[in-house]
Amino acid sequence: MARVLAIESSCDETACAIVEDLHVRSSVVRSQIDVHARFGGVVPELASRHHLGGITPVIRAALEDAGVRLTDLDALAVTEGPGLVGALLVGVQAARGLALGTGLPLFGVHHLEGHLFSALLDGSTAAVPEHIALLVSGGHTELVEVRGLGRYRMLGATRDDAAGEAYDKGAKLLGLGYPGGPVIDQLAREGNPAAHGFPRSMIDRDNFEFSFSGLKTALLVHVQRHGQPTSRAALADVCASFQAAIVEVLVHKARRAVRRSGLARLHVVGGVAANSGLRDAAKQAGVEDGFTVVVPAMRYCGDNAAMIAAAGAARFMAGCTPSVEIHTSLAIDEERQRLS
Ligand code: KG4
Ligand code: ZN
Repeated sequence: MARVLAIESSCDETACAIVEDLHVRSSVVRSQIDVHARFGGVVPELASRHHLGGITPVIRAALEDAGVRLTDLDALAVTEGPGLVGALLVGVQAARGLALGTGLPLFGVHHLEGHLFSALLDGSTAAVPEHIALLVSGGHTELVEVRGLGRYRMLGATRDDAAGEAYDKGAKLLGLGYPGGPVIDQLAREGNPAAHGFPRSMIDRDNFEFSFSGLKTALLVHVQRHGQPTSRAALADVCASFQAAIVEVLVHKARRAVRRSGLARLHVVGGVAANSGLRDAAKQAGVEDGFTVVVPAMRYCGDNAAMIAAAGAARFMAGCTPSVEIHTSLAIDEERQRLS
């Protein structure tokens, strides 16, 4: 068993958590949504400053909630990238300070590897099961074949916008504020997904790539042509149709990846995995095709440190060499090569 404290500060959440392997002892997330909302997106400089103010209280709170002291820990972990460099620096320097003060080993964790572990938190799996991961966040949309710890193969990714980015930009266009995912998700539940025919980009291509920038343009053209929806019902129809276009492509490609891989398991992870339409459609595809679908608990879909701690614990138990190197855009399978 490894008891690990981890820090996550790659974007706009300052987070610290303590886990015992996959069991979460505490998970504290201080969101900066209020700071960035009025700008319609994350402002990197503001993110760094707020991480700096938030990091110490968040670490203290995680230790208090778990009822453990630094001397009770086996290792430390921190998100080393990808992310905003100034934001990453705050978490990494705090973690390095803790490592220096305690002598504990410090593991740098790839942010997306953390998201992979989010689906295993508080579950009963001992190792990382073989599966296809649909990784959908604000910055990434990828299908990854997972064969075990550090054994990741990228099957395909988005050529332009990420799914979460499409939600955020779509919401901005509709005047719904930031972040866009939760509010569109909420409205979509009341609307008719067949009301408007938004494009399902690349759905017929026999690959695992995605493209969402055309969908954003289609929404813009729709608003230019018809004006902003004037009633809640009309807005709900636009949101439901927009969401259907995203979910349909994601699930179509994910189920094809599962079929091709011969694996019988799909994990949907990342901030967009909180989407009710996506969760339902993925589960439905699993029932139809006979594969297991795992989605993280809602509190572990968005950025958190528990997932980073769990990945760090797995690395510690596997005897990996502790090392931290900040990076802003290393792909998840490049990370594997670097560490192996
Ligand atoms: O993983 P995450 O917290 O941060 C990144 O690593 O990017 O993902 C944030 C993204 C945002 O784009 C947000 O709009 C989206 O996840 N999101 C959702 C929902 N909740 C958050 N998208 C669709 N439906 C949701 N319910
Ligand atoms: Zn994330």
